[in-house]
Amino acid sequence: MTSIRDLLSSSPDGRTLTVKGWIRTKREAKNAVFLELNDGSCMANLQCVLDAASGLSETLRAELVRCGTGASAAVTGTLVASPAAGQAVELKVSGLEVIGEAPAESYPLQKKNHSLEFLREIAHLRARTNTFGAVARMRNQMAYAIHSFFQERGFQWVHTPVITASDCEGAGAMFQVTTLDLDALARAGKPVDYAKDFFDKKAYLTVSGQLNVETYCMALSRVYTFGPTFRAENSNTTRHLAEFWMIEPELAFAELEDNIALAEDFLKHLFAWALDKCAEDLAFFDKRIQSGIVDTLSSVVKSKFARMTYTEAVKELEKHASEFEFKPYWGCDLQSEHEKYLTEKVVGGPVAVTDYPKEIKAFYMRLNPDGKTVRAMDVLVPRLGEIIGGSEREYRHDVLLARIRELGLPEEAYSWYLDLRRFGTAPHCGFGLGFERLLMYVTGMQNIRDVIPFPRAVHQADF
Ligand code: 4AD
Ligand code: MG
Repeated sequence: MTSIRDLLSSSPDGRTLTVKGWIRTKREAKNAVFLELNDGSCMANLQCVLDAASGLSETLRAELVRCGTGASAAVTGTLVASPAAGQAVELKVSGLEVIGEAPAESYPLQKKNHSLEFLREIAHLRARTNTFGAVARMRNQMAYAIHSFFQERGFQWVHTPVITASDCEGAGAMFQVTTLDLDALARAGKPVDYAKDFFDKKAYLTVSGQLNVETYCMALSRVYTFGPTFRAENSNTTRHLAEFWMIEPELAFAELEDNIALAEDFLKHLFAWALDKCAEDLAFFDKRIQSGIVDTLSSVVKSKFARMTYTEAVKELEKHASEFEFKPYWGCDLQSEHEKYLTEKVVGGPVAVTDYPKEIKAFYMRLNPDGKTVRAMDVLVPRLGEIIGGSEREYRHDVLLARIRELGLPEEAYSWYLDLRRFGTAPHCGFGLGFERLLMYVTGMQNIRDVIPFPRAVHQADF
C-alpha cells in the first residue's frame, strides 16, 4: 500500500488506487465534497475530491454520511493534478468505504485546537493530532539518527539491564522491584525478608546503564546504550519523567576534551538530521509551537559550543545574583534558572560546563589534582538547561576505592566495578543524553510529558 507521503511527491499520472487512513475533515461545497485523509506517514493530508456536480450515487452518499472526522476509510480514485493551491496532487474519488466510524457526538477530537493539557488526558488518541503525529515522527527519526551516528563511528550498541541491584548514581531515587507479597506480610505483621525475594536481595529499576556499559567499554573500546531508565525523584517539573530514555556512549582511552567533542558532534548530527529529514514537521513546530526553531537549529549546527568551568560559571552568576530565586555560590548545585541564564544570557548558545565540585557529582567521576573538583561536564542549551551530563571516569583503583569509602557506599556491591580498575584499567569517559530532553529541544515542546507517547511521572501512570 502506498503511503500518503509517497503519493504527495509522485506525479499526477491518473493511475487508480485505494488509499487508507483517517478522515481529518469533510467539507461539502456546492458541486463537490472534499475529504482530507491522513495516514500519519507525514503531516500533510491527501485531498480527496468527490465530484457532486451531476449528483452522487446512492452508495457514495450513504458512505459520506458515516464519514466524519476521525473515521477510518478506504478511498479509491485516480491521482490527478490539483487545480487548487496547497497541494500538487489530489485523489479524484470513485469509491469510498468507511471502515470504522467515529461518532461526532462522542469523538473527543471532533473539534480542532485542543489544549495540550486536554490532549494529555486522552493520550491514547492524541497521536491523531498534527502536533503529536509530528512529535512521533521526530522521535522515530531521532532514534534512527542516534544509531546512525554511533554505528558510522564504530560504536557498538550494548544492551544493559533494566533490573539492577546497585544504585549507579548513588542518588537513592530508585523504584524497587519485588515479587514479595508486601500486603500479605503487612497483614500478618511479618517483617520483609529480602533474602526470600526473587533475586535473594533488594532489586531496582536502573537509573542509568553507565556502570554496566563501562564493562563493555573496557573490552570493545567504543560502546553505547540506548534504553529506558527510571528515576523516582519527586520532581513534578516540565523537564522530569519517572521513566525516560537515555543514550549513554562510553569511550576508552579518552579524556574530557574528547568527551565534549563527541557530545558536540553528536548533537549537531542530530539537529542536522532533524532539519534534513523532518523539514515538514519542523516547519509546523516553527509556526505553531516554537517560533524560530528552524533558524536556531541551523545556527547551532554551524556554531562551536562554548566551554566554561563550573568556577567560571559561578563567578558569572554571582555578578547577577539579584536575578535568581536561588542565590548562586561556589559549591551549589546549579539550578535550572542558573543553567538557563548561562546558556541564554552569558553564552547565547550551547555551553559545556566542566569541573564541578565533587560533592555535587557522582562518586565515579575522576578527581582533579585540586582534590575539590571532578572532571564532570554538563552540556546546557537555551530553553532547557541541562541536556547532557557526563564525565571522565575515575580509572585509578585506589582513588575510586577511597571515594566509595568516603561516601559510605556499599563496597561489596561495587567490587565488580572496581575490578575494571584492577585489571587493565584505562582512562575513559562518557555521557548521557536524555532522549526526551533532546526531543523537547528539537520540537520546541515545553512539557516533557508531550514528547513521549505515554508519560510516567509523579502522580501519573495512566494508559
Ligand atoms: O546527568 P545524568 O543523571 O547522568 C547520568 O545518568 C550518567 N550516568 C550519564 C553518563 O555519564 N553516562 O542524566 C543524563 C541526562 C540528563 O542530562 C538529562 O538530559 C536526562 O538524562 N535526565 C532526565 N530526563 C528526563 N527525566 C529525568 N528525570 C531525567 N534525569 C536525567
Ligand atoms: Mg546531570
